[in-house]
Parts: sequence; structure tokens; C-alpha cells
Amino acid sequence: MTPTSSTLAVPEPRAIPRHVAIIMDGNGRWAKQRFLPRIAGHRRGMEAVRKTVRACAERGVQYLTLFAFSSENWRRPVEEVSFLMQLFVMALEQEVAKLHENNMRFKAIGDLTRFEPRLVRLIRDAEQLTANNGRLTLTVAANYGGRWDILQAVKHMLSKRPELAEGFTETDMAPYLAMHYAPEPDLFIRTGGEQRVSNFLLWQLAYTELYFTGMLWPDFDAEALDRAIASYQRRERRFGRTSEQLQQRVEAPVYAQHEAGDTR
Ligand code: IPE
Ligand code: IPE
Ligand code: MG
Repeated sequence: MTPTSSTLAVPEPRAIPRHVAIIMDGNGRWAKQRFLPRIAGHRRGMEAVRKTVRACAERGVQYLTLFAFSSENWRRPVEEVSFLMQLFVMALEQEVAKLHENNMRFKAIGDLTRFEPRLVRLIRDAEQLTANNGRLTLTVAANYGGRWDILQAVKHMLSKRPELAEGFTETDMAPYLAMHYAPEPDLFIRTGGEQRVSNFLLWQLAYTELYFTGMLWPDFDAEALDRAIASYQRRERRFGRTSEQLQQRVEAPVYAQHEAGDTR
């Protein structure tokens, strides 16, 4: 099943976002404020991940996507990169069984070819073990970049369906995007105070509600999540329509659909 695109069809409004995507930023600053090495911030950040996963599941969020390592983070000092890789390995070794017990599904998106074989194996095993779990899908974006995702989708699509080189639609490409299994994020959260997307889910964030907080990631918890969700609930998601149309619950006219054949 390919989840519907927000630029082609209007999703059902929901009080609890179905999909939350988070840029977990500010670990380094959290550590610096305490005169600790940056890696102490990353270690503490893992605690915030545990709390956030639990809180999301309790609130009925179905998909949680966490940006753990960007395709640009290789530019960091080698010691920090290698610590982050170790942390990822440790987290998988310690947490996957718990995810599974809690009926949660684990997924990874990103270019895994640059990772050590041991890490890749842990990721694939975790995905396989939890594949049929239905409670919350936790996706970790690792060596992920939004531009990489779009390019790999186009390349993959054209290798499978060379005839599409003549022209293709959003609907043709969607199944090849890394997160084809999930609806587009409803709520995007970035901690750490920066107001940028940093090459996260560029395609999928087209109509996502954006929420920025100055809170540093290691301090993030259930209450912070609730504040983000409360902000989300105050938004008016118009998807191109007018406010009046929303109040009258008017359906988008068929001619507004710009892809041939899609008249939902
Ligand atoms: C986010 O925290 C974690 C990763 C990018 C892996 P940072 O390490 O970017 O923390 P700041 O932005 O330096 O405070
Ligand atoms: C974004 O954080 C990536 C992750 C949280 C994994 P960065 O701290 O790397 O972002 P920039 O480079 O400051 O935008
Ligand atoms: Mg940062």
C-alpha cells in the first residue's frame, strides 16, 4: 500500500498526529553547558529517545521517525563519528528486544552502505524481528539525507521501470522513497533552537506542521512532546484550501487534482 500524498489528496484531520518526525538536536550544547565532552550529550540523548518512544506509543502516535545521523554528519571529528556508531550498535543490542516485547516495529532509512557490516546486520535483524509488530513504527534515519532519498528513489524506479524515463508522476515515484511504508509526517519537531530542516525528509515534509523548540534534545521528555502536540492541535491544516472551505467541510473539487487519473 502506498500512503496517500498530501499534495494529491487531503488527509483526515486527527487530534493526535499519526506520524511525528524529530530532529534531535542540541546534544553537544547540552554537554558543553555542563563542561562535559560532546559524547556525554549523545549518551544522555539516548535517554530522551527512550522517553519519547514510550510517550508517543502511549499517546497513540503510530509512526515516530528520529534523525540520528545525517549524511552531512560524517564531517564531524572522527572520534565523535565513531562514538555515535558505537552508541547506535549498543542501542540496538540493548533496546531491540524491548521494542519487540512492546509490539513495536523498527525500521531504518538512509544509505547503510557506509556503515560497518556488524551495524548493518544488527539493523537488518532488528527490522526482520519486528516486521509484523503493529503498535508503533520507530524509524531511525541514519546516514540519511533528503536529497539522497529523492535521487535513490528516481534511480531505483528507473531501473525497475525504464519506460518511465519518458515521464513519471509523484504516484509512480512514491513507492521507491525510503519511507514508502509510512504516511507523510503530520508533525515535525526540531529541538536545539535551530530553525532549519538540515536535509531531513525534504519530500515528505511538504505539508507537515513544523515545531521548533529551544530545548536541547537530552532534556526532551513526555511533557515537551505534549507541548508540541498541543501546538499542532492549534494549527489549521488547510492543504491549499481556504479556511471557509474547512469550516463548511467542502470537498476539494475534482479539477484541482493535478495528476491524471487521481480524482479522490
Ligand atoms: C544532535 O546533537 C545529534 C547529532 C547530530 C548526532 P548535536 O551533536 O548536533 O548537538 P549540537 O547541535 O552540537 O548542540
Ligand atoms: C541534524 O543536526 C542531524 C541530526 C540531528 C542527526 P545537525 O546538528 O547535524 O544539524 P546542522 O548541521 O547544525 O544543521
Ligand atoms: Mg547540532
